[in-house]
Parts: sequence; C-alpha cells; structure tokens
Amino acid sequence: MASLNDIRSTFLDFFERNGHRRVDSSPLVPRNDPTLMFANSGMVQFKNLFTGLEHRDYSRATTAQKCVRAGGKHNDLDNVGYTARHHTFFEMLGNFSFGDYFKDQAIPYAWELLTKDFGLAKDRLLVTVYHTDDEAANIWKKVAGLSDDRIIRIPTDDNFWRMGPTGPCGPCTEIFYDHGDKIWGGPPGSAEEDGDRFIEIWNLVFMQFEQFEDGSMKPLPNPSIDTGMGLERIGALLQGKHDNYDTDLMRALIEASAHATSSDPDGPGKVHHRVIADHLRSTSFLIADGVMPSNEGRGYVLRRIMRRAMRHAHMLGAADPVMHKLVPALVRQMGAAYPELARGQAMIEETLKGEETRFRQTLDRGLRLLSDELGRLPEGADLPGETAFKLYDTYGFPLDLTQDALREQGRGVEVAGFDAAMAEQKAKARAAWSGSGEAKDAAIWFELADRHGATEFLGYDTDEAEGVIQALVIDGAEAATAGEGASVAIVVNQSPFYAESGGQVGDTGLIKTETGAARVTDTRKSGNLFIHQAEVTMGHLDRGQGATLSVDRDRRGAIRANHSATHLLNEALRAALGEHVAQKGSLNADDRLRFDFSHGKALSPEELAQVEAEVNAIIRQNTPVETRLMAPDDARELGAQALFGEKYGDEVRVVSMGRREGSAKGSNNDTYSIELCGGTHVSRTGDIGAFVLLGDSASSAGVRRIEALTGQAALAHLRDAERQLSEIAGLLKAQAGDVVGRVKALADDRKAMQNEIAQLKRQLAMGGGGAEAAPKEINGIKLIARRVDGVSGKELGALADQMRQGLDSGAVVVMAEDNGKATVAATVTPDLAERLGAVALVQAAVAALGGKGGGGRPDRAQGGAPSLAAAEAAIAAVERLIGESA
Ligand code: SER
Repeated sequence: MASLNDIRSTFLDFFERNGHRRVDSSPLVPRNDPTLMFANSGMVQFKNLFTGLEHRDYSRATTAQKCVRAGGKHNDLDNVGYTARHHTFFEMLGNFSFGDYFKDQAIPYAWELLTKDFGLAKDRLLVTVYHTDDEAANIWKKVAGLSDDRIIRIPTDDNFWRMGPTGPCGPCTEIFYDHGDKIWGGPPGSAEEDGDRFIEIWNLVFMQFEQFEDGSMKPLPNPSIDTGMGLERIGALLQGKHDNYDTDLMRALIEASAHATSSDPDGPGKVHHRVIADHLRSTSFLIADGVMPSNEGRGYVLRRIMRRAMRHAHMLGAADPVMHKLVPALVRQMGAAYPELARGQAMIEETLKGEETRFRQTLDRGLRLLSDELGRLPEGADLPGETAFKLYDTYGFPLDLTQDALREQGRGVEVAGFDAAMAEQKAKARAAWSGSGEAKDAAIWFELADRHGATEFLGYDTDEAEGVIQALVIDGAEAATAGEGASVAIVVNQSPFYAESGGQVGDTGLIKTETGAARVTDTRKSGNLFIHQAEVTMGHLDRGQGATLSVDRDRRGAIRANHSATHLLNEALRAALGEHVAQKGSLNADDRLRFDFSHGKALSPEELAQVEAEVNAIIRQNTPVETRLMAPDDARELGAQALFGEKYGDEVRVVSMGRREGSAKGSNNDTYSIELCGGTHVSRTGDIGAFVLLGDSASSAGVRRIEALTGQAALAHLRDAERQLSEIAGLLKAQAGDVVGRVKALADDRKAMQNEIAQLKRQLAMGGGGAEAAPKEINGIKLIARRVDGVSGKELGALADQMRQGLDSGAVVVMAEDNGKATVAATVTPDLAERLGAVALVQAAVAALGGKGGGGRPDRAQGGAPSLAAAEAAIAAVERLIGESA
C-alpha cells in the first residue's frame, strides 16, 4: 500500500518529469497577501505570478502546500473530528502554469496521473465543468473519452474558483470519484450531491481573470493553470478507505493519541482522537511557522485550535498534558517532507506543553461551571450567552470550544447574548479609559483600536509584508485619502514595522499602494494599535487599499544587533560587577545602544575591558538566539531577567542567547542570557558582529550609563580610531607602535621648553640678554621702576628679586599685565626696608593704577590693579614717594 508520503512523491515526481519546478511549500502565514489569515491553497504563494506582477525563472511549478482552514473565509474547525473529510490542516498537491500551458495540457496531465500513475479505474471518474466552458468539455471528451453524462455542466460558483473577494480567479473543472451505488449520494449538481458516493478529488482552475474590490474583473495577461488536490482525500481513495482519518498518516497520529491517553483508538473516545490528530498537525505547523498563541488575530486562532484539542484530551481522562507527547509521532510521519517540523520540534513541544499546563488550571473549573449551568437549563435548551462569555472571560474557553462541548449534547450557545456581553465589556473598558485622563488626542487611537482590533505584528519573521490600510489620520482627524506631501499616521491590519517599545526604537521604511508611496519616519504604539508616522512622497494613499510595507532592512538589522548586544551586556555587567546590577533603562537605536543600570561607582578600565571581552566571546560562539512564550512565573523560575514594576500579561516572550563557558552542554542553566523581551533580535549571536564599549558615565544617583556600538558602527569606530592613530604617527614621523613613547617625550620636551621660555622672558624683561637695567637715583636712593611685558603675575616677584640683585642698596618696582589683570611687585634692599617699605611702594603704584591695597613684607610686596593704562602715573607716584621719603 502506498503511504501518503509515497503518494505525495508520486505526484511531485510526475510533474517534475513533465518540466515543472518542484517548489517548497510557502509558510502558513502568507507573506504576499494582506487579507488572508493562512495559506489555504497551493496558489497563494504564486498569486502575483498569475497577475503578472512578479516573474520567476520558471513558468511551471508543482508543490505540496501546507494549508490551514480555521479562520476567515474557509473555516473547517467546527466540523473537524465529526466528519470524514474536514481538517484544519491539510496538504494540497498542485501543478501550476504561469502563462505556459493551458486547458489543453492541464486536462491530459491530470488524466494521465490519475489513471496511469495512480491507477484509478477510468469508469469510476467523472467531471464537472463551468456551464459555458465548451472548450473544457470538448477536451475531456477527446482526452478521456468521457461520455456527455459524465461531463456535468455546473452553472454556479462551485465551478468558478476565487481565492477571495479580490485576486486571480477563473472557471474550473472538478474531477470526482464514484464509490458505487452501495453508498448513498448523487452526482454533483443533483439533489443528493452531498451524499458520500461521489467524492471530489481534484480541482483544475483555469485562471483567466483578476477580480478587483469594486467587483470588476479584468482578463489576466496570460491564461494560467492552478490545480489543487487534497493529499488526504486522494490518499484515502488510493488506500481503499472512505475516511481521511483512516489513511496511514492520520492513523499513526490517532494511535499515538490513544497510546498517550491509554485508550482505545476506535472506542468511545474516537472523535477525541480524530480531533487531537488533526489539531496536532495544524498547531505544530503553525508554531513551526512562527505563530504563537495569543489573544489576537492568528495567535488567537492557534489558541482556539490548541484549547479545543486540549479539551478533547481532557475528555479522554488524561491527567497530564498530552499534546506535546504526540509531536515525535508527527515528526516521524511528516518531518522528512517538512524539515521545519523537525527543526522546530523543541519549540513546538514546549509551546504545546505550556499552553496545556496553563489551560488545565481553569479547564476543570470551567467544565464544572458549564455542567452546573446545563443542569439548571431545560432539556435541550441553548446555553445563555452570558455564561458562554463568563467561560471565555474567566476560564479561557474560546466560544467555539464551548460550542464544541455542547455539540456532543445536541445543544448550542445563544451567540447574540455572547456578543452583547463582549460589547458591554468593551464599553466598560472604554469608559474606564476615558476617565483615566489620558491626552485627548489619544481618543482617536482608542476609537480606531476599538473598531479594528490590534495591529498584528509580523516583524519577528519578516521585514516585508502586505497589509490593508484601515485608517489614515491627518492632523488628529481621520481622512479617506492622503495626498502627496501629507504628513499622515497610517493604521494597517498587520505590519512588519516594530513600534517603539521596551527601549527599541520604531522602524522606518516604505508603505506603497497601487496609487502612491509614503516614507515611514517612525512607528509608535497606542495600546495594541501601531501608528506608522509617514510622509506621502508620491501620488496618494487611500483608506481600504492593500499596501506593501517594507521596513528599512539595514537599519532594522543594526537595531537587532544592538538589542541583542544589550542583553549580553546586561549579563556581562552582572558577571563583572555582581548581582546588584539591574537594568534601569535602555535604548536600542540603529546607530548605538545605551544601557543604564544600578551600580554605585565608575567602572575601572579593567572592568570595562572584561565586560567588552565577554560580550565579544559570546558573539563569537555564534549560537542561535531562541525565543519562547511562557507564563511569567515559569520565566522567572528559569532565571529570566525582567524589568521590575513592568506589567506582564498571561504570557511572556522569553529571549535566550549564548552559552555559559565551562558549563556542560545541555545542562539546565548553561544559557548565558535569559530575558523577558518583546523586541526583535538577531538569529545567531554572531550576527552582532562585534561589540565596542564607548565608556561609562553617571546617569543619576547610583545609576551608571554605558554606551556601546555593534556591527558596522563598531567597525567604523575602530577604523576611525585607527585612522587617527596613523595620522598622528604620520605627523610624528613614527611607527604606530612608537606613538605613545613619542607623545610622552614630546610632552616632556614641551614642559622643559615652557620653563626655558619663562626664564628667557624674565631675562628679557630685565633689559634683555641678562644686561643689567640701569637704575635711576632719587633722593639718594637707586630705583628701577618699569613696566615689563610678557611676564605673568606669578613670576613678577621673582623678576623683581632678580633685578634687585644688581643693586647694593635700592628699590625695584615692576608691573605687568597678564590675562586682563595688572600686577605690581616691589622689593627693597634690607637697609631700606625700614625707611621706605615695599608695601608703601606697591600701594602708591596700585592707587595710581586705579586699584586698591597691596601687601606683603617690608622688603617684598605685591598688589593687583585693573590695568596698566596708567603705568606712567604709577611710576611717577613711586618716584614721588621716594623723593618725599626722609
Ligand atoms: N485554488 C484551487 C483550490 O483551492 C485549486 O488549487 O481548490
């Protein structure tokens, strides 16, 4: 018996043999479609090839595409477990032509594969075509020899395929398998078509048009082919089963579920096992593709599926979490075809286990409340909406989980009551908020968040994505359009732009639509709403348009490196300085990082060097950076660094990186840094490149601040230092290695020269070249009185002394101006100290200069004055005093 893995290969091999490129499945979260929650068919990743927007180096492709139908337009969740062919996760096999071949080749390929490679009996097959599509009908007749009654014309949308309200579309032909008259049901188009006798196995879409928002349709540049065949269905058929859950792959998962819960796979818990097997696939693949359980958007769909499965596991009587134990079985079945599953295994197991552990804490109590409530209701009555809301709000029961639980008893939920209770809660939140006194202009953001819900952040995995413009806000008011030159705040349903928080700056980049482009200069958050602050640079942007959002990649790369390095710095500081180091603030910008932390004194050069070296050592380990979601308490237990006083939700993102040197690999506490963090990070520590500390300074009392650079900026900084050094070496005509010695020698030389210059200046002031200044004789006393220039106030006394040495008896008065201040110094030989007094001489000169005072000893005195403008008068005053002395 061919396994599902064999059947997948047969399909892909067939088309590869026929000139098709084998292309990997795209991730479940579409990168190129703003309206789609999950990839739900094979053509999603090729959407832009059909419309001619994008070209690749192949025009034929074949894929096995991962699909999830559990939210949005195609939602199969409610039926899963109870029917033979509903899944939340399935694989769609497809072949595609992008303007290459069309109907006349697509139909023969399909016929050949089904009847030759898969060996299906020709007389069991019949087809439908769109009622006007004679061309397709004729090809079927010619290629397959089908009689007219086995080519059924369908006039409805069943044979006109659309991916959604917009996008490529076209008429299709569907191939059905007839299980024979032992099974009830009629051919497609008949009143009994919903029976199980005729099963659709393959849909071939003739992509011919593009549908636009206004309802109009334009022909595609080149008619194309998109086919889709559910692997589980064709697998069931080829394995002679009627139920997809009886195929080898699904059966292995069901048996794993039975084993883990010690129950019979086909016993009374059969539905539970089927739900678990299906939901194991969708949840594991979603987690592997980066979706994390949350209360919004895709994360909430994931959570709903997880919790639905967990309730079914609980119904099987499992006392402990079950889902994570089944992951190895899934990896065994599908890990070879989808390597991301094996790569993400640890993360998938951990996420499932965490969610199940937490959900179990409220599940029992919620179920008890539910059964008490049902006991009070009349037989068969629906559950009141408020009770369903209480289960949602208090016990974490998504509405569909409650509905699923009631389904087993043939009851439903009063959904209107549930919606009303939800609306009332929102109104209360709004009232509480309006009373909180926040700035008025924030009202518009609250209003928008209320209307559109949270912005979904896609930027952990991608820096480009598509979104729908939900609102444009210009000068605080909503606008339908924003024209060229407008400064506008743009709100979209999903965005790769990081909105400033936790110290990480907001992203910048570009938002483009069909009619214009805007440059995003900053991204902020108001609650969970992202606000892209932008300038329209070209054309105009309209509300409701689809937009391509591209983050400035290089800038984001630099921000990531700085943010990851900040985590390493935090840890390295604790290692170097002690456990008292706690984060007090941080900035993760594109050009640098800043980290404030509690520590009492400046870091020594040795401490700085140690911290820098340790961060660089972890960078060189180049180990993967891991991100997980867990309950805050679990995160703390793990030793995660959290910000004191920060409010964390039910779940926190935990970022771990680096390995502690010397610890055994795999030991529990060998992770270097573990922090709660919502920011974006490098994939491996090596991506940080390099780390350079710029030094530390005081930020506030008891808080130090470190600034540092990483990657390109670190390199540029080092290069710049290097360039300066070599320039200095060039100026010194020395080798770089000799620069320090040379600069020291220069500094010593300079000091010696300064001393020499001072000495020379003094000599010059005394009359130059050491020649004695000639004294004047007044009243029998020899006097040298003069203004000297270029001598500082400090040196003036010494100069006066020196000049006096040439006199056996006499007086010297010198004055000099320096730095806008005049100084007068006087000295007399000891024999005159009594009679004349240096102090009196200084005071006379100072007074004449317009100053006051002066003092010292009888033989040496000094004083200050505002300037030497009246130097002549000062000398005259001194001469007068000497002339009058007795
Ligand atoms: N897009 C079509 C479908 O989903 C064929 O692949 O059925």
